[in-house]
Amino acid sequence: MKVAVIGAGTMGSGIAQLCASTGHVTSLVDTSEEQLGRAATAVTSSLDRFVAKDRMTREAADRALSRLESTTDLERAVSGAQVVVESVVEDLAVKQEVLRRTVAAAPAEALLGTNTSQLSITAIGSAVPDHAHRLVGLHFFNPPVLMRLVEIVQGLVSSEEYVQRAEDFSQGLGKETVICRKDSPGFLTSRISAIVRLECLRMLEEGVASAEDIDRALRLGLNFPMGPLELGDFNGLDTYLRILTSLEGTLGERFKPTVTLRNLVAAGRLGRKTGHGIYRYDEAGRRLDDGSA
Ligand SMILES: NC(=O)c1ccc[n+]([C@@H]2O[C@H](COP(=O)([O-])OP(=O)(O)OC[C@H]3O[C@@H](n4cnc5c(N)ncnc54)[C@H](O)[C@@H]3O)[C@@H](O)[C@H]2O)c1
Repeated sequence: MKVAVIGAGTMGSGIAQLCASTGHVTSLVDTSEEQLGRAATAVTSSLDRFVAKDRMTREAADRALSRLESTTDLERAVSGAQVVVESVVEDLAVKQEVLRRTVAAAPAEALLGTNTSQLSITAIGSAVPDHAHRLVGLHFFNPPVLMRLVEIVQGLVSSEEYVQRAEDFSQGLGKETVICRKDSPGFLTSRISAIVRLECLRMLEEGVASAEDIDRALRLGLNFPMGPLELGDFNGLDTYLRILTSLEGTLGERFKPTVTLRNLVAAGRLGRKTGHGIYRYDEAGRRLDDGSA
């Protein structure tokens, strides 16, 4: 089956790797050649790590790479695709424009998935009223190749048939699924992770403890696999700020971003992808400090 993934950032590159690794001919699209280059490097080194850990053979990794192509030509990428996964920036207008272009060039029966973290599927789909029944939230987690869940979100007019196809597709990628039947802001997961991280940022701003101790407290005391602040860096603080700003608009004041978060993003400290967020990182993404700088 041919899959097109639109947006080659933190999430899109991983989703494309997952699709190619599970046998799909995959086209990865971005507006930026530079970003496509970074995505290719990220996919190659991730596959190399799978091989080094004996979780994949060299041949399987090479086959996955041979199934994956990168392009800036969205229309060519979605042409002939049975599934299109949009994973561009968390911005309603940008997602709607990508969707309009997608339906004009993709097969009329294609499943249209959006990896939005919290935007209304119904609102995104309103850009293409005649095709909105084919649009379903396909919410992956970072990193998509490792995280077990895909959260499927049914928009007001997403059809049962396409929700079922989204579930079958996700399970074919080796994922477990939950279905959010009501198109509610932040779905089942993002509203929780956003508010937990926000409370950590508030404690940081109040000087209650260091970033490292806040993360250690949640890891060791509350059994979080990763501290919320380091996870924020891992996922991208710019994406997190967009999510909070949007959730503040839909769910209210309790999601209001902190001043520190706004300043970090304004300063270009976006997390691992820029080498500095709440913590500092080396080229390989290893943490270098305790977050106090
Ligand atoms: N980062 C996470 O942990 C995470 C987890 C789940 C879902 N999401 C969601 O996934 C989506 C992508 O997030 P991300 O973290 O990968 O963001 P990102 O900023 O890392 O990547 C977004 C990419 O989209 C590209 N893009 C922008 N406009 C485009 C267009 N018109 N056509 C093609 N490409 C375009 C950008 O060049 C960029 O490479 C967002 O909706 C986000 O909310 C993110």
